[in-house]
Amino acid sequence: MKTAKRLKHIDEYYFSRKLKEVGELISKGKPIINLGIGSPDLMPPKSSIDNLIKALQSPIANKYQGYKGIEPFRKAIKDFYLKNYNVNLNHDEEILPLIGSKEGIMHISLAFLDEGDKVLIPNPGYPTYLSICKIVGAEPIFYDLAESNSWLPDIKKIKKINLSKVKIMWINYPNMPTGANCSIDDFKDLIAFCKSKNILLVNDNPYSFVLNENPVSLLMAEKSDNCIELNSLSKSHNMAGWRLGMVVGSKKNIDNILKIKSNMDSGMFYPLQIGAIDALNQNQAWYKNLNQTYLKRKKIVIEIASKLRLTFNSDGTGLFLWCKIPDKFKSSEEFIDKLLYDKNIFITPGSIFGSNGEGYVRISLCCDEKKLLEALKRL
Ligand SMILES: Cc1ncc(COP(=O)(O)O)c(C=O)c1O
Repeated sequence: MKTAKRLKHIDEYYFSRKLKEVGELISKGKPIINLGIGSPDLMPPKSSIDNLIKALQSPIANKYQGYKGIEPFRKAIKDFYLKNYNVNLNHDEEILPLIGSKEGIMHISLAFLDEGDKVLIPNPGYPTYLSICKIVGAEPIFYDLAESNSWLPDIKKIKKINLSKVKIMWINYPNMPTGANCSIDDFKDLIAFCKSKNILLVNDNPYSFVLNENPVSLLMAEKSDNCIELNSLSKSHNMAGWRLGMVVGSKKNIDNILKIKSNMDSGMFYPLQIGAIDALNQNQAWYKNLNQTYLKRKKIVIEIASKLRLTFNSDGTGLFLWCKIPDKFKSSEEFIDKLLYDKNIFITPGSIFGSNGEGYVRISLCCDEKKLLEALKRL
C-alpha cells in the first residue's frame, strides 16, 4: 500500500533506531550504561501511586472521561500555576490537560497551521517541533541558538529572516538540550517581537522544576492570545510513563486546541487524573528532595565529562549536562559511537537536535549513582 506523502519527510525517531542498536549490544552481553535518554528513573510521589490505585476501584474509572479532564484536575493545575509561578488561570477556560505535553505539540500545530505556513524552530531543539511541523505540511524556519548568546533566540538576527507566513514560534525554556534559562525580560522581548509579526509564541516548559531555583513560566511575562505554554509532570514528578501534561493559555486558544483534541482522544484515564492531582499538590519538599538526588548525580556526571575532556557550563537547568566535544572529533556521532563501542557507555549526540548541536553531546542524569560511578571507573 502506498503510504502518505508526509511519511517521506520524516524519519524514525533517532532514539527508536539507536536504542535498538543499544538493545542488541545488551543482548550480546555488553554491560551498557545508558546515559542517553531523559526518562526519570526515580519514583513518583508515593501518595500519587496510592491515590491512583484507590481510584482504580471507582466505577467512574472505567468510563470515558470528559475531553477537558475532571474539574479537580484542572483546579489542581490552576493551584500549581498559582503556587509555583504566581500565574492566575481560570480552571474552566484557560487550562487543558494533555496526555503528555508531546501530544500538545501536535494539537497546537493542527489547530494553528495550514499547509505552507511557516514555523520558527530552535536549532538546537527538541526534534518533535520539526517532525510535527513536517507532518502537518508546514515549513520549518530554523533560528539559531548559540552558546555565545547564552542559547537564547537572537531577535535582531531573526528579524532579518523573511517572516511572511510564520504562524508559530517554538521556544523551550528552561531549554533542552542546552539547560539554558530565559528571564521574564527575555520572554517579554520575545512576546513583543512575536506580537509585532502576528506570531503565536509557544513555550514548552517541562523542565522548570529540575535543578532550578526559580521556576518561570512564559505566562508570568504576559497572559494573552499571543502566548501558549505546555507543561508536564513527566520530569518534575517522575511520571513520564503516566503521560500527564497540560496546555495553558487564553480561552480562545484553548478552545481552538480543544476542537482538535476532542476529535483525537476520548479523555484521560480517571485514576491517572486522580494520581496527577496528588502530584501537583506536592509541597516544596518534593522538589527539594528530587533536586538533591539530581545534584549528587550531576557532580558525578561532571567528573565523567571532565574525564572525557568535554567542556560545559555546570549551572544548567534540567535533566542533562550539555557538553562540547574536543576538536579532534569529526562529529558528535563519532564521539558517542567511540564511547559506546570502547566503554559501553551511551550518551546522546548533539547533532540530533539540529546542525547547531553538532560538536556537542548530552549526558543524562536519569541514572543512579552506582551506575554513574561505574561509568566513571570505566573512564
Ligand atoms: C523539550 C521537551 N518537550 C517535551 C517533551 C515531552 O514531554 P512529555 O513527556 O510531557 O510528552 C520532552 C521530553 O523529553 C522534552 O524534552
